[in-house]
Amino acid sequence: MNKDIVCIGAGYIGGPTMAVIALKNPGRRVVVVDINEARIAAWNSPDFDLPVYEPGLLDVVRQVRGRNLFFSTDIETAVRECDIVFVGVNTPTKSFGRGAGMASDLQYWEATAREIKRFARGDKIVVEKSTLPVRTAAAMEAILNDHSEHKFTVLSNPEFLAEGTAIRDLLEPDRVLVGGPDDADGRAAVEECVSIYASWVPRERILTTGVWSAELTKLAANAFLAQRVSSINAIAGLCEATGADVDEVARVIGADRRIGPKFLKAGPGFGGSCFKKDVLNLVYLCESFGLHTAAEYWHGVVKMNEHQQERIVSRLVKQMFNTVANKKIALFGFAFKADTGDTRETPSATVAKLLAEEHARIAVTDPKAIPNARRDLEGVPGVEFCDGEYEAAAGADAIVLMTDWRHYKDLDWNRIFESMRKPALVFDTRNCLDQARLREIGFRVLAIGK
Ligand code: UDX
Ligand code: ADP
Repeated sequence: MNKDIVCIGAGYIGGPTMAVIALKNPGRRVVVVDINEARIAAWNSPDFDLPVYEPGLLDVVRQVRGRNLFFSTDIETAVRECDIVFVGVNTPTKSFGRGAGMASDLQYWEATAREIKRFARGDKIVVEKSTLPVRTAAAMEAILNDHSEHKFTVLSNPEFLAEGTAIRDLLEPDRVLVGGPDDADGRAAVEECVSIYASWVPRERILTTGVWSAELTKLAANAFLAQRVSSINAIAGLCEATGADVDEVARVIGADRRIGPKFLKAGPGFGGSCFKKDVLNLVYLCESFGLHTAAEYWHGVVKMNEHQQERIVSRLVKQMFNTVANKKIALFGFAFKADTGDTRETPSATVAKLLAEEHARIAVTDPKAIPNARRDLEGVPGVEFCDGEYEAAAGADAIVLMTDWRHYKDLDWNRIFESMRKPALVFDTRNCLDQARLREIGFRVLAIGK
């Protein structure tokens, strides 16, 4: 029998993941619940004004919403009636007390565990989707099974999707990982979870491990990816100082099959909800087990990342005759990467704040992220939000391209040049523009790692 699924947390992970699970498992009822009423209303909106922007998501939701995918705030009914509970609530970095700035804040997650226990009327499989520190499943298992008449089996099924490509990543994952306890109940629960994915993912791509390994794998995978970005950004600084070209260096490094070409793009540093949080979690874990050298090693990945944004602003200010006070600087792109409206940990916010400290006037534009940008930059002086690139650039002294939205390449750069104050400068922090052409037009051009 196909078991029904509920997912607690209708965010960037819960929404898209459950939409694809529902699409590929038409025989299962999938309910996504959240305490945030506005968010659920948006998922249910008649004109499909979804709270998450992802290429391809709308198409999937149109097919399954109301068929076998439902969004609700009624957590009690959903938990009572399902067999499998996915937990996709947020686990931000702790901002208070022990481990502040490093460890995960588990209050939402623990509240969820207690909700599941309170509402359950039978045995359940509970699947962690949120990134959690290693051994959290044990804590969840302890809360759930303490004096309970029902049996809860806790699995870890970390999500590896990247924003902007979430639907593709879900439809064609490199791998799906399910970690579970190595006993009869555990093995049966793992098989149940595997069967959800096996309806579209080839079996050989569904990997099973112990629970701890699965939890640690998620942290380690993100730390390795973040480390590659910091490594290439560290080389970019050296390229700028010495006259080498970081894109050339990356191309040749990546041609070594042992290294591979992906995640070698120098830029303004990594953003997004996962990398920094997961690396800091790893740092905290290493520290807690007395592995200070390992902790320091991983901490370097985050420090390098923060340094990258400071370097961008210093170079810009230097090029603008050591002062940007009262100069208008247009930020093209506020999301942490293209094809998303997500601005969590975005390097653009740091750059905007650093420029505000220099008393610059900052014009922010982004095709999807302006509502989030308004919230993130509330109270930052000298910031205005613009409807499009031409408006942001008009009268500006410089443009700093922060996000590699594809259409930036095809803008009318002659028109932009005409509308700017001279000398007009473009800082391409993603190396995604035709920099030679910009120079021909008359721009002064700064690039990352060149
Ligand atoms: C990441 C992981 O890729 C994903 O597996 C995990 O589940 C969540 O975290 P995401 O944060 O959505 O996904 O985006 P990703 O494409 O990994 O980019 C992260 C950041 O690194 C972005 O700010 C991006 O601009 C930056 N980046 C990435 C680079 O600067 N250079 C690169 O070569 C690649
Ligand atoms: P992620 O990127 O991990 O998906 P989000 O912040 O986008 O994170 O989504 C997490 C969602 O979880 C939010 O919409 C939040 O309202 C929801 N949430 C947090 N705690 C609870 C809870 N106890 N019950 C239900 N939903 C919750």
